[in-house]
Amino acid sequence: MTPADRILELRRLIRHHEERYYVLDDPEIADVEFDALLRELADLEAAHPELVDPDSPTQRVGGRPAEGFATAKHLAPMLSLDNTYDEGELREFDQRVRRALGIAAEAGTPVGYVAELKIDGLSIALTYEQGRLRRAVTRGDGVQGEDVTQNARVIQAIPLVLRDSPPEAAMEVRGEIYLPRAAFTRMNDEREAREEPVFANPRNAAAGAIRTLDHGAVAKRGLRAFTYQIVAPADATPAAATHHETLALLASWGCPVERHWRVCDGIDAVIAYCEEWREARHSLPFDTDGVVIKLDDLAARDTVGHTAKFPRWAVAFKFPAEQATTRLIKIDVNVGRTGRVTPFAWLEPVHLSGTTVQLATLHNEQEVKRRDVRDGDLVIVEKGGEIIPKIVKPVIRDGEPRNPPWQMPTTCKFCGSTLVKPDDEVDWRCENVSCPARIRRGLLHFASRRAMNIEGLGESLVDQLVSKALVHDYADLYALTVDQLAELERMGKKSAANLVAELDASRHLELWRLLHGIGIRHVGERGAQALAAAFHSMARLRAATVEQMQSVPDVGTVVAASVRSFLDEPRNQTLVDRLAAAGVRMEDEHVEGAETPKPLAGQTFVITGTLDQLTREAAEERIAALGGKVSGSVSKKTRWIVVGRDPGSKIEKARAVGTPELDEAAFLKLIMTDQ
Ligand code: IVH
Repeated sequence: MTPADRILELRRLIRHHEERYYVLDDPEIADVEFDALLRELADLEAAHPELVDPDSPTQRVGGRPAEGFATAKHLAPMLSLDNTYDEGELREFDQRVRRALGIAAEAGTPVGYVAELKIDGLSIALTYEQGRLRRAVTRGDGVQGEDVTQNARVIQAIPLVLRDSPPEAAMEVRGEIYLPRAAFTRMNDEREAREEPVFANPRNAAAGAIRTLDHGAVAKRGLRAFTYQIVAPADATPAAATHHETLALLASWGCPVERHWRVCDGIDAVIAYCEEWREARHSLPFDTDGVVIKLDDLAARDTVGHTAKFPRWAVAFKFPAEQATTRLIKIDVNVGRTGRVTPFAWLEPVHLSGTTVQLATLHNEQEVKRRDVRDGDLVIVEKGGEIIPKIVKPVIRDGEPRNPPWQMPTTCKFCGSTLVKPDDEVDWRCENVSCPARIRRGLLHFASRRAMNIEGLGESLVDQLVSKALVHDYADLYALTVDQLAELERMGKKSAANLVAELDASRHLELWRLLHGIGIRHVGERGAQALAAAFHSMARLRAATVEQMQSVPDVGTVVAASVRSFLDEPRNQTLVDRLAAAGVRMEDEHVEGAETPKPLAGQTFVITGTLDQLTREAAEERIAALGGKVSGSVSKKTRWIVVGRDPGSKIEKARAVGTPELDEAAFLKLIMTDQ
């Protein structure tokens, strides 16, 4: 087989496996095998530059960086959908369609519809020409939207090249870009750790992601897509006479199609579908806010027509909002591990989409004021994508007396310290590091899975340890004895011994876990990993300047300043010293005593693209000399991917699994600081 043939074969194979993985959620091969295919293709393309194709799967990332967004016009206006909220309105829709098609209301002939889930994302129009993705444009005002092609190209669910003989002429494939719930939770957790504002729902997060200018960042977000419509010029309409054939056609080209659509013979079947999904939707991995009902026969759609805003041949059925009305007993506040004060509401228990709700979050002082909720109000609570419900608004009845507006307390209810709020921040804080509430939350974080991983140290135990004054800070944990623990409620000798063993094991973990667990403001898991990888020991970190910290990839000004001020605080220095005295490991392997320091021990690097300052071999030698390993392909074990000029396909995999990236300058800093 000639290289040209093999390249074509590899592209086909890779696209096939991307589709199995990202579109069908049903991979056929292991990640390593997929990597090997990509690697082979990248190598072949590198050896035969004349055969490189901009739409090759190796080219998803790369290209020029997005610079703002140009506007682009849609082939035909992107209409919105009219909404219906109950069975009656659905039947009226059916009546209107029947009238337009000249089918008597009383006649038994049912109209053929397709019912689909309504994806709670944002609409996108993908232009394909000769089967190749040429443009991706947001809905915008319906006539023109923003050209987000560069960002759409990194979403692996979106094919760069369609398979199975798609039309040659330019056509738009329309659909929805969305963020699966799991990716949304992960993203918000990370933002929370960095004390950045969290997104209210996956839709907002997806909208934010698709419009960011850093398309490397887009790749990490985990956006997905579904397609549901083909818009083609009249003379080049693809071979589909019905909507269900359209969906089959899209799927045959490798486009992602949400698989729960159903052909419904008449409106009764549509109503049954809506009824079924009202509850079942909670088990989906993404958010859906309703059902879209579409006339199946495409020719009939033209007869039925559209208004300026909506097609008359389709309608959305919105699931009833998951809301309930209840009495707000009292607004209270919580204090988090960093001292942030968050108001929340105690509610009279109310049943809301499958659970009984007694608490609702109120986010911050401004939020309470904006919604003007007060103690004793009747309030509407709603469950969005999140687990903790929120208060939509108070129900105010004329003449009914209300309590005065809520006031943020001036002192911490847990420790009595005066609460403070820096002018440029929205949150009030308790600044007392010994506040029992902060200690409680801090201990839970310290023990959490992505920090010191101390299994068994849960809420009830932490509450007892703090209220019985057995533990005042993390270091105290390591002095706990089996006898002391066995005395506590719901603890026996056995669980006490288990916990002591867990604590013991946690003494020997990697440095990043301690840096993450110890609760330095703005230092999340990634920041902690970056710091540990660069400094390898608490002593070296303590000695580092803000500038040195800032030069570490993934560590910005805010993080560096926060780490410095944490380590400069005498209380924290004592805490770190006590942890060290308790035997908690303060450095990563081989830093001290060894003849040559091996600061990169246990770290695997992958290099992609060309490095300007040193040869591949020199880079590999240097990594090896520092105790690190170099691998040819990205896996979950890869610690860093070094990205040179014209990176190859490895970067796609790295971005898919969230491997931290180093550009050449950052890589040099890392290997040079370690000399
Ligand atoms: S069809 C002219 N099907 O909902 C018909 N839309 O509220 C165009 N949406 O702008 C839309 N899932 O962004 C259709 N299965 C689905 C959908 C869907 C979500 C969005 C779409 C549209 C909005 C209208």
